[in-house]
Amino acid sequence: MTNPTNSPSHIAIIMDGNGRWAKERGLKRTAGHEEGAKVVREITTHCSDLGIKYLTLYAFSTENWTRPKIEVEFLMKLLERYFKSELAIYLENNVKFKAIGDLSKFSKKLQKVIQDTQEKTQHCTGLTQILALNYGSRDEITRAIKKVNEQNLEITEENINNNLDTAGIDDVDILIRTSGEVRVSNYMLWQIAYAEMFFTKSYWPEFTKIELDDILSDFKKRERRFGGI
Ligand code: FPP
Repeated sequence: MTNPTNSPSHIAIIMDGNGRWAKERGLKRTAGHEEGAKVVREITTHCSDLGIKYLTLYAFSTENWTRPKIEVEFLMKLLERYFKSELAIYLENNVKFKAIGDLSKFSKKLQKVIQDTQEKTQHCTGLTQILALNYGSRDEITRAIKKVNEQNLEITEENINNNLDTAGIDDVDILIRTSGEVRVSNYMLWQIAYAEMFFTKSYWPEFTKIELDDILSDFKKRERRFGGI
């Protein structure tokens, strides 16, 4: 579903640069992820205060498993810790949590924490924070097409859309990637069809509410034509 207004309904972020942020400060890469998790909370709360409907954050890609084992293990533990400490914050801010991606590759323990967090925030009616976990857009689209086939449905845009992990969620209005890299890295390829894109020089651990506010003011000035004139 596209949104023709200049108030964004859905913001998606590629949180990049944790490793470089840490390296430049003589710290281990994991310190960058730890700091990045704090920014996740700050930006989520800010989006909630601004009345944004959906915030989707790329927390772990289908390709991230190829990182050194020690870093992958750290990220898994960080996610477990994050969900445990975050439940109270979600509830306090009326934030609903949803995961997208193929969760079956995660440990049973992490899958359970994710499931519990989804269930316990199900009744929340404010912002929906979506974490992309073991997520890859090609994988998501392939799984969606398989589901369409299994239901003996015709391959149409609507049927594919309704079988994506993001079924029922508005298209992305704003895509942000931090850290100076200008690429989309297999992230929400279907959902960003008409998104406005923003690339920041700041690394994710130094991304602030003020920077997000600047992006939102810039977005309001952009003319979105969705293929029309
Ligand atoms: C990219 O930085 C970041 C990731 C692959 C992981 C994102 C994780 C977090 C922001 C923290 C944990 C998240 C939650 C929700 C608790 P990079 O490591 O690729 O940085 P680099 O490009 O500088 O090496």
